[in-house]
Amino acid sequence: MDFSDSFLQELADRNDIVDVVGSYVSLTYKGGSYWACCPFHNEKTPSFHCDKDKQFYHCFGCGKGGSVINFIMEIENLSFPDAVEFLARRAGMEMPNDGDRAQRDRRARLLDLNRDAARFFYAALSAPGGRAAQDYMVRREIGPVTAKNFGLGFAPDSFYALTDAMREKGYQDFELVDAGLANPNQRGKGVHDVFRNRLMFPVIDVRGNVIGFSGRILGEGEPKYLNSRETLVFSKSRNLFALNLAKKSKNGYILLTEGNIDVVSLHQAGFDSAVASLGTSLTPEQARLISRYTDEVVIAYDNDAAGQKAAQRAIGIFQPLDLKVRVLQMEGAKDPDEFIKANGRDAFANLLSASENHIEYRLATVAGKHDLGTAEGKVAYLKEAAGVIAELYSPVEREVYGMRVAEKAGVDKAVVADEVQRARSIRAKAARRQAERSVVRDVRASVQPKDRALRYENTRSALAEEGVIRLLCVDATLLDACDLTSEDFSSPMLGRLYGMLREKAKEHAALSPAVLSGSFSPEEVAQITTLRSRPEPADDPGRRKALADYIGIIRAERDKRTVEDLRAYAEIIRNKKGYGG
Ligand code: GTP
Ligand code: MN
Repeated sequence: MDFSDSFLQELADRNDIVDVVGSYVSLTYKGGSYWACCPFHNEKTPSFHCDKDKQFYHCFGCGKGGSVINFIMEIENLSFPDAVEFLARRAGMEMPNDGDRAQRDRRARLLDLNRDAARFFYAALSAPGGRAAQDYMVRREIGPVTAKNFGLGFAPDSFYALTDAMREKGYQDFELVDAGLANPNQRGKGVHDVFRNRLMFPVIDVRGNVIGFSGRILGEGEPKYLNSRETLVFSKSRNLFALNLAKKSKNGYILLTEGNIDVVSLHQAGFDSAVASLGTSLTPEQARLISRYTDEVVIAYDNDAAGQKAAQRAIGIFQPLDLKVRVLQMEGAKDPDEFIKANGRDAFANLLSASENHIEYRLATVAGKHDLGTAEGKVAYLKEAAGVIAELYSPVEREVYGMRVAEKAGVDKAVVADEVQRARSIRAKAARRQAERSVVRDVRASVQPKDRALRYENTRSALAEEGVIRLLCVDATLLDACDLTSEDFSSPMLGRLYGMLREKAKEHAALSPAVLSGSFSPEEVAQITTLRSRPEPADDPGRRKALADYIGIIRAERDKRTVEDLRAYAEIIRNKKGYGG
């Protein structure tokens, strides 16, 4: 723990979640909660709500949720300690020195380790052992100046190269694991390197900290890229590869690509405002981050169906941010890297200057699909084009583009306007239905956490574990009737949470969302908020009965696991002794 629980609690008490969220979105009170359209994903009907009693927010649509601190982290794109400082300032509170220092020290230590690891990889690239990586870079036409500019490196083909080097520098094994650079060995003690025999791309944030790595295999093979997992200092969804360089560009636009190699190649060719999302599809946080540095984005995704679909999605994500968005179309090349290598930098510059506004791009795509020489083609074109125009918020834009479409199809502009109006009312109806369904869907189907890294291994047990947690959150006295230990839990995260609930109950203190934010990652807090948003029995006998049922399930599943573990262990012994078949 870094900030003391009592400090986080006071911070939350002085920053009521409804006040804070209400200063970013307009909230409407309805049925016990405050509702709004979610600021974290694009929607037309509210599925985002704030619970004043429980002091958390949660979105049924995108699964985001947590305390007031998580909200500020998310919307202001701040780290945990920075969000705490932001809220302390808002409430006129002093920052506590010691707790603050502990948290900052832990982060600073991880950042130091990442920097040292980056230096190690960089040195390994020019060492004799780095031959394979150098050859690969030659093949990909990545020059030494570019490599230096990006701090590219090489992770040697060894399980202990980095680990040994970092131990020598005084880092401990657990720190290497915390930084996502090493994994614990399966059996026995010790740790081993995560990144082996890969070309290393350090991920550097806008302040210049090395926060993680992306490692590409040399040549063919799976997985092509290995990215650092989420750590105290690294979050894939709120950072972009090379934004540290791109933010200094004088271009006036950001070039958004899919691949790290595309970015490197573009910078090398002088297009120094290229960035890439870190192996995820573009997130709203990344879009907001981009919007801080530019008011124009050029999307240069891969020229395949998946890339084009991702481009359409990205347009939707940029839409609420009031950015100018263009989409590049590269004929005859699969991505910007290939395009530049095949056609040169001038050809890419021409492409940029010719790239269209995204609505024009989409209308052109639609026009290309239909034969405007035939009556059927015209009708199909009009219907589909009206669908595109219907998505525009601004009536002026709808009018302007409606006129263009009318001209192209050779019909009166009133015809197009009618068609657009019809498409808009269909969309509105669909959105309403969707919102009604999403609440039901959330309770029933989205048992699994949205974040893949948090997937439950045993869903049946995990659901019961969630139930136990939910009940203990509403009534801590139920702990008397609960003799589970953290080890009984199949989900490590829920087990840890359960352990904290027990601790808190001993001190007769509550485990509020703000306190949770100090001990769990934002993804975990979102998951905890989601599980807390599900209904629970309202009366004491109902709760006790539910608790007993949950405990029964958890025990039964744990016993099954023990049997499976023993069987697997027996199998290993058999194989070792050469009895196996
Ligand atoms: P080249 O094919 O060498 O040109 O690589 P690229 O950098 O252009 O990557 P590609 O277009 O294949 O993929 C786009 C991005 O998706 C990469 O930069 C990675 O961030 C991510 N990615 C690709 N393959 C994997 C993978 O196997 N695992 C993970 N986690 N991410 C991947
Ligand atoms: Mn690519």
